[in-house]
Amino acid sequence: MTKRRVAILISGRGSNMAALIQAAKAPDFPAEIVLVMSNIAGAGGLDSAKAAGIATATVESKAFGKDREAFERAMQDELVRHNIDLVCLAGFLRLLTPWFVQQWQGRMINIHPALLPSYRGLHTHERALADGVKIHGATVHFVVPDVDAGPIIVQGAVTVHDTDTADALGARVLQVEHRIYPQALRMVASGQTTIDGAVCRSARATATEKTLISPSS
Ligand code: GRF
Repeated sequence: MTKRRVAILISGRGSNMAALIQAAKAPDFPAEIVLVMSNIAGAGGLDSAKAAGIATATVESKAFGKDREAFERAMQDELVRHNIDLVCLAGFLRLLTPWFVQQWQGRMINIHPALLPSYRGLHTHERALADGVKIHGATVHFVVPDVDAGPIIVQGAVTVHDTDTADALGARVLQVEHRIYPQALRMVASGQTTIDGAVCRSARATATEKTLISPSS
């Protein structure tokens, strides 16, 4: 099996990154994490990536001011240098230009802490609580030029409790994130997914069991 070469882009603590690194240790995992790149110097996740023996790079977005494409070209150079096949955004807090998204069309995925297309954008847990929804969760999707949009690969749901705070709800959603991101990467890297317009389909007949985690309580 030829493993797909994956770069993870982070801006912060990198708990999803750590979940991907952990999952990729399995001998049958169809991808290897070969690069972790941050746009913030000193992002917490860089240390854990180094400790796991993974190459790291920092391309500071701050240094490029408003020239987003110049920043992305510097990132692109790193990705090309490492022969990257797939990019995983994991708490990467930069808006990407259509140019960069185009370079990685169908090869770049993101995790968002809500059940898309609900609650695109920030403060998803606070907004879910304010609306009184009874179900909330996380989504892994292909990246398209629109923010927090794109074909959905896997979703994981949690029950919203009446007593929830945003932190408590966010912590339960994060646990689900750590399950669905490796699952989605496994599906994409093994070629099980196809993009059909706005929809991602899975080659497996049992797709729904693999593409939805539903609450057990
Ligand atoms: C996660 O909640 C992810 O869904 C969102 O940013 C957060 C990153 O957390 N995109 P971590 O850095 O992976 O711990």
